[in-house]
Amino acid sequence: MTASISVALGDRSYDILIGPGLLAEAGARIAPLLGASGGGRVFVVTDETLESLHLEALKDALDGAGIENHGVVLPAGEQTKSFVHLESLLDAMLDAGCERGTTIVAFGGGVIGDLAGFAASVLLRGVPFIQIPSTLLAQVDSSVGGKTAINARQGKNLIGSFHQPRLVLADTGVLRTLPPRELKAGYAEVVKYGLIDDPAFFDWLEVHAPAVLAGHEGAVVRAVETSCRAKARIVAADERESGQRALLNLGHTFAHALEAEGGYGELLLHGEAVSIGLLLAFDLSVELGLCPAEDRDRLRRHLDLLGMPADLPPLPGGWDADRLIAHFAKDKKVRDGRVTFVLARGIGQAFLSPDVPAPALRRVVERALSRAGVGPR
Ligand code: GLY
Repeated sequence: MTASISVALGDRSYDILIGPGLLAEAGARIAPLLGASGGGRVFVVTDETLESLHLEALKDALDGAGIENHGVVLPAGEQTKSFVHLESLLDAMLDAGCERGTTIVAFGGGVIGDLAGFAASVLLRGVPFIQIPSTLLAQVDSSVGGKTAINARQGKNLIGSFHQPRLVLADTGVLRTLPPRELKAGYAEVVKYGLIDDPAFFDWLEVHAPAVLAGHEGAVVRAVETSCRAKARIVAADERESGQRALLNLGHTFAHALEAEGGYGELLLHGEAVSIGLLLAFDLSVELGLCPAEDRDRLRRHLDLLGMPADLPPLPGGWDADRLIAHFAKDKKVRDGRVTFVLARGIGQAFLSPDVPAPALRRVVERALSRAGVGPR
């Protein structure tokens, strides 16, 4: 049951393959893509968690196809998306003799995919790379579309590039070893596609999301496939985010501010911040009289039913409305000092709004803080 989706980008088009058991097929799937100039070599970038769980299976698959492979194992966690680890990764690649034709394989979640993709985009002015995403979040979002980045002191993903992979291999079987908290966090990026422009998918998720989170193979594959089809369509239409690709950031302006204040750690995983951010985006849309309150309440019921975060967790020292609002101004979508928010006219009807009135935004943030009993200070 392997699904195949093409990301149509002319001579940079590539496939996303989705299904259980793809890791074992990695060698056979990758071999045809390796140009003669690279001598068929690949350099695998992964993290310590994947090393202990699945790296051997990937190496066996590459060895089995006669693909010479080297690799580096980095610490797991958001802190790895940094200049320090970029430098050590580039060092390791150069020490291993990577050439222009060597293919980098990013085997991991969003952190590894973003970092290895960025390294691939600058090494020797750009080498090919392949994504083997190992988390739900990476399978439905970050591995597709060619956004690569590391974090800056000033904020998340502020240093990066667009560099499309040559292939995305999403082995849904690997998700079985994902901690339930991570799986749930990744689900926020799944439900996002229903909220953006696919109300029928949201209807389906209202029935089947518990099966997705319980790891039922058919439901997982369908959720990943529907998400990737939506993302592939949007990326093909607007690769560099000059327009509609920004819709994929629904909830993310709020999420990035929460993560920046929460410290990119255990308090809030990225997907958990997105879950809260999605609801805040709907709250803001309701506040502006653009969206029926019933749609926001329907989203809240869905998140609550699944045990997804909808409210801010307690933060040691407390949340601060001014500080959160100040983060919005650092968003990558700021143009001429104005933040573009993704709002919604209802479930499946997201749109971009460059002129959200500041008082309405403040009311929504302050309400969120008092709802969670954590502010405003
Ligand atoms: N994660 C949003 C995008 O790829 O555009």
